Amino acid sequence: MSKRSMLVTSALPYANGPIHLGHMLEHIQSDIFTRFERAMGNEVYYVCADDCHGTPVMIKAQSQGKTPEQLIEEVGISHRADMQGFLINYDNYYRTHSPENQAFSQQIYLKLRERGYIFTKTISQLYDPVKNMFLPDRFVKGICPRCGAKDQYGDNCEVCSATYNPTELKEPYSTVSGATPILKESEHYFFDLPKFTDFLHGYVKEVLPPEMANKLEEWFAQGLKPWDLSRDAPYFGFPIPDADNKFFYVWLDAPIGYMASFKNFCDRQGVDFDAFWKLDSDKELYHFIGKDILYFHSLFWPATLKGSDHRLPTKIFVHGYVTVNGAKMSKSKGTFIKASTYLKHLKPECLRYYFASKMNNQAVDLDLALDDFIARVNSDIVGKVVNLASRSAGFINKRFGGRLSAQLYNQELAAKFSAAASHIEKSYEERNYAEAVRTIMALADEANRFVDSEAPWVLAKDEANNERLHQVCTQALNCFKALITYLSPILPEVYAASQDFLNDQLEFTTAAQPLLDHEIKPFKPLFARIDPKAVEAMIEDSKQDLKEAAATKTVQSADTASEYVPLAPEITIDDFTKLDLRVAKVLEAQEVPEARKLLKLKLDLGFEQRQVFAGIKGVYQPEALIGRKVIVVANLKPRQMKFGLSQGMVMAAGEGGKDIYLLSADDPAPIGSKVH
Ligand code: 2FM
Ligand code: ZN
Repeated sequence: MSKRSMLVTSALPYANGPIHLGHMLEHIQSDIFTRFERAMGNEVYYVCADDCHGTPVMIKAQSQGKTPEQLIEEVGISHRADMQGFLINYDNYYRTHSPENQAFSQQIYLKLRERGYIFTKTISQLYDPVKNMFLPDRFVKGICPRCGAKDQYGDNCEVCSATYNPTELKEPYSTVSGATPILKESEHYFFDLPKFTDFLHGYVKEVLPPEMANKLEEWFAQGLKPWDLSRDAPYFGFPIPDADNKFFYVWLDAPIGYMASFKNFCDRQGVDFDAFWKLDSDKELYHFIGKDILYFHSLFWPATLKGSDHRLPTKIFVHGYVTVNGAKMSKSKGTFIKASTYLKHLKPECLRYYFASKMNNQAVDLDLALDDFIARVNSDIVGKVVNLASRSAGFINKRFGGRLSAQLYNQELAAKFSAAASHIEKSYEERNYAEAVRTIMALADEANRFVDSEAPWVLAKDEANNERLHQVCTQALNCFKALITYLSPILPEVYAASQDFLNDQLEFTTAAQPLLDHEIKPFKPLFARIDPKAVEAMIEDSKQDLKEAAATKTVQSADTASEYVPLAPEITIDDFTKLDLRVAKVLEAQEVPEARKLLKLKLDLGFEQRQVFAGIKGVYQPEALIGRKVIVVANLKPRQMKFGLSQGMVMAAGEGGKDIYLLSADDPAPIGSKVH
């Protein structure tokens, strides 16, 4: 088969905060993919960058008394160190605030304008009269014009996924000052997305798996809207050509940053950039992204490319979010774990392996269950794989001068290791790493059964068994060789150390071909077990990160709500006592499949059991709630919902959407007791 040629990207992390384990899921996923594709002999380029523009970066820099350029420089250094720490092998990790990106953004914009896809319109925009600035979408909140959900951002609703203009919000407020915004007119530049409707409707079916493409039908049914790609000063971004004090919205230049990062690489390495981006390019282009940015990648980005005569992405690979111990990562529980904090305590390959072992090609959430993480890494990598080598290498070195035998002992076992190759390759190719790991571990189990039944330590007692001992240990080491080579996209450092130990260049495509009559080196420990204390220390450290962040009071500091939410009108004590709040225990919890946000809970209120629907799906995993005590509004009038009767309301705090935390009564308050 002729070699394939591809460019692979991960979503560009924002330059206004640290890399955390949520990000790492994606970078690990794409890194494994690129290592696998390279191991298959394909030509692979792999790039990323920091996403530098927009108001949050500008405001964060201001709050730290820095220029945005200083901030992105510092953040860039730490992001690159995190990527390296996790062995993410980018050819280039660049930034969107770059000359290449500015040039491409302007060229693409001018091409779209020349083609008649850009129009201007004077719009009334919300303006903060206290801070004297137009309010970007994310800095104004209010009630969703479509579904009525409270505290929704100005650009889209996290409850019903509607997208809209901030002026359509009901009861808006500025999250910068809390002031009620006023309307002020300003001329804006729009990209005529509706003109691409037919093209996009067909294209999303090519680039996404059917279940994802079907989800997008909702957007097409509502009709695509023109996209406002300009922002007024003050804004950290690229100026729009021929426009006065207007800047490109960060999401215009962010995906163009994929091109710019690659261009920066190509210019240094002499790689043909145009071959990858020209209209009829035969190179493959893959974007790895999270499900939250699907809209940008499957609609705006392809339409921008199409309208400016560039090639389109071959596929978009979408993943879900990371949860820790069954719940959304939480700063106060210490489960909002920064990449750098993880790396202080644990080896990158532990997380790479654990994520890989649970990662398939569906956009479902992945739970980092910490006890399971320790158990699985220790039992699989150390117990099943590395031990194969450590148990056999001693005999080869001491009894056979470090030389492997000329034959294997059990051809049937060897054949199983070769036969698995195509399924393992297919699983990696389809990004079903969990299946690849399952297959590899099933082989490891076979190999360990073989060693247990041959018991080299017993064979070693009698010189007459020498040849058999030699062949059995040689075979065990060859099993190890195949396993670690099959795992090489996931465990690159253990693989490198194993090459040294086995004294051979281990190739993925010949993983199961045995090394025979070949000299190896003395065994050195290849991988250390995870000490549970290291995980505890990481959690403690993450709680500490929170305290430090709170102390420095940066924007969006840790556990303080990052935005101003107006107070509700004053109430009297009589109003308050109308509420009957009770402690209840969660007996059962399950997802409501037809509802985007709801979990169905069965609660024990002591004196009776109740069914309550709570809008926390995707935030908490149902099984993690069972047995937990929560606070319930017990005298709320029961409400008949589409899915059944809801008899009360579970209380939670947070900004809504995914930022929602159940209030619990985990101290000894008895079930049914009143909350005062
Ligand atoms: O959602 C995010 O984190 C964005 N910074 C991703 C940008 S991806 C690409 F389009 F640049
Ligand atoms: Zn809504």
